[in-house]
Amino acid sequence: MSAAQRDDAVPGTPDHDTDLHHLRADGVSLVVDLAGGTLPRVLHWGADLGDLDPDVLHDLRRVSRPMPIGFPVDGEVPVAVLPEQSAGFLGTPGLTGTRDGRDFSTAFVVREHTVARLDDGTQRLDVHASDADAGLGLDLVVELTAQGLLRQRATLTNTADDTYALDGLLLTLPVPATATELLDFSGRWARERSPQRTAFTHGTRLRDNRRGRTGYDTAFVLVAGTHGFGHRAGQVWGVHTAWSGNHRTLAERSHYHPGLLGGGELLTPGEVRLDAGGTYTSPWVYGSWGVGLDALAGRFHRWMRARPQHPRTPRPVTLNTWEAVYFQHDLGRLTELADAAAAIGAERYVLDDGWFGSRRDDTRGLGDWYVSADVWPDGLHPLVDHVTGLGLQFGLWVEPEMVNPDSDLARAHPDWMLQVPSRLPRPARHQQVLDLAHPEAYAYILERLDALLREYDIAYLKWDHNRDLVDAGHGRSGTAGVHGQTLAVYRLLDELRERHPGVEIESCSSGGGRVDLEILARTDRIWGSDCIDALERQQIQRWTNLLVPLELIGAHVGSGTAHSTGRRHALSFRAGTALFGHLGIEWDLREADDAQRAELAAWVSAYKDLRGLLHTGTTVHADGVDPSHQVHGVVAADGSDALFAVVATATSESLPTGRLTFPGLDPDATYHVRPQPPGDVVEGLGSHWLSLPWWTPDGARLTGRVLAEVGLQAPVLFPEHLVLVRATRVA
Ligand code: DGJ
Repeated sequence: MSAAQRDDAVPGTPDHDTDLHHLRADGVSLVVDLAGGTLPRVLHWGADLGDLDPDVLHDLRRVSRPMPIGFPVDGEVPVAVLPEQSAGFLGTPGLTGTRDGRDFSTAFVVREHTVARLDDGTQRLDVHASDADAGLGLDLVVELTAQGLLRQRATLTNTADDTYALDGLLLTLPVPATATELLDFSGRWARERSPQRTAFTHGTRLRDNRRGRTGYDTAFVLVAGTHGFGHRAGQVWGVHTAWSGNHRTLAERSHYHPGLLGGGELLTPGEVRLDAGGTYTSPWVYGSWGVGLDALAGRFHRWMRARPQHPRTPRPVTLNTWEAVYFQHDLGRLTELADAAAAIGAERYVLDDGWFGSRRDDTRGLGDWYVSADVWPDGLHPLVDHVTGLGLQFGLWVEPEMVNPDSDLARAHPDWMLQVPSRLPRPARHQQVLDLAHPEAYAYILERLDALLREYDIAYLKWDHNRDLVDAGHGRSGTAGVHGQTLAVYRLLDELRERHPGVEIESCSSGGGRVDLEILARTDRIWGSDCIDALERQQIQRWTNLLVPLELIGAHVGSGTAHSTGRRHALSFRAGTALFGHLGIEWDLREADDAQRAELAAWVSAYKDLRGLLHTGTTVHADGVDPSHQVHGVVAADGSDALFAVVATATSESLPTGRLTFPGLDPDATYHVRPQPPGDVVEGLGSHWLSLPWWTPDGARLTGRVLAEVGLQAPVLFPEHLVLVRATRVA
């Protein structure tokens, strides 16, 4: 049969067996169709389909083809991972750009494609395509990792002589019509990653982010799922656009396509212009499928943990000075704080903002990365020596991309700030952004950071970024600068890491404003939020954990009254919340009394005992009936051990709450279930005169199935309190 006669090929183009690929990994199947020489189409992304022989695969393709009725063009409309209008697709196009108005539409033809298995088990599809008429080449990479995580990215090349102005490049993945609901995230300073759920209706849900950083209100992970999906149930498909500059994530449904999820960089007009031979590489767009959000998150976590650069040493208990002293730097005070931190078991001490130049408050000094001679006449040595002498690592806060106009740097090099030619951007937190695409500005910052890392025994940089990019142009050329800035920041981080491989870096951006997988490719943890209020943190950390494993989420125990909300919380609630992260302390411990220090020391010691489990296990969440009571936990990868928190975020409708379930354990194994000290102290109604039968060290013996399906009665807690439950498999 000739290619033109086969009914499984797009008309008029060749077809053979290798045009259809079935990749499988960790419960996921990806079926990619390259028939007809047009860009790859995903026929299935989701549950593992088992081993399919070529005939079945061909028939899968045949039965996937719709009756060509109601389409914008005659015949069906193949929707590629980079959708093209030339195919008849009238949704959001994959590629937008022109050559002075021409070549606005492409029809790429695949010249070659290969499938390979990489050393880490990733299956990788490389597709080389071109459109000779438009003078463009396109290299697509589609990967299915060993953990069943999907990711793709594209490189566009201008193969013609005249300049091609790129407006946008979007990569998509299809979801079936059964995905009827969407979940994505919004947020603001001190309230990052607020979930929002909507119906997945016809039209485009477009989440554009123009902050010049990932943003508090990034879509983060945009999830489409079956009706009523939750942490444990319902099929879910999620995409993450891994980019720390302007970016776009969308979900789109139309009568001729049941659902697409996509993402890419958001470019300002004129920002990317490709001269002859010039290339543009898109961000990685990730896709994770699972039954329930815990499964979706688990793929991200397992993949991140398998990366060579993933931090594998125990995550050190960190004392951060910010909320303890703010800008009040004083050697005596800071060494006393270090002594108190060491006494309760801290392992790392981070000196926050205020140590350099004229930086005595947030109005000046940013950019002058020289230790302030006024405050530190002997440099940072006395403090660093004191801290390291106590056996703690020393960490230092920096904000390399920023500059206060009131600084020596800005006075000497006003042209180093991102700006449009005739005006500086409106200030934010009294600061401007340094144009790191400016070679001299870049060289200055690299030299300063490198010099500090050489002079001092610094194990850790807290790398902050405290403003959105507004009017961010390269002053010299007058062109938009976020794209160049984002690449320059990546380059700077890469170069520093190469020079100082042992130094860990935290991505902070006024809290959790820069959390994405591309910044996490070059940093070792993120600061979850400037809000350390444990009640808010329960939500912020829960949803941040949809993408980021617990060991990379900075979570601190604050003082009794939260600085960002004024709420007061018991130490057990503050510490039991920070326990499910990379635990730190951000509290002026000099003010803590002996009892508080002893209690904190007990939590620090518990964290040290438990971090091996918490930082390698699988996070699980019960889908509660009563939203006032949340059960979340971590189950060891081999199912042998688990730690859960029962969290009362508010008063419950019923008293007591009824049985709470504990998911994710081996259903057939028996577990010894008991309160976990120091989270065994019940502060709640009746706790002084009533008891719960199993709330003893001996606890109860139950199977994983009983715990997941029936559950158990938990103590009645005051709102904004928590207790810990341990479940250990019995031999
Ligand atoms: C914002 C960060 O999120 C805080 O933790 C602190 O480092 C301040 N910046 C310092 O200016």
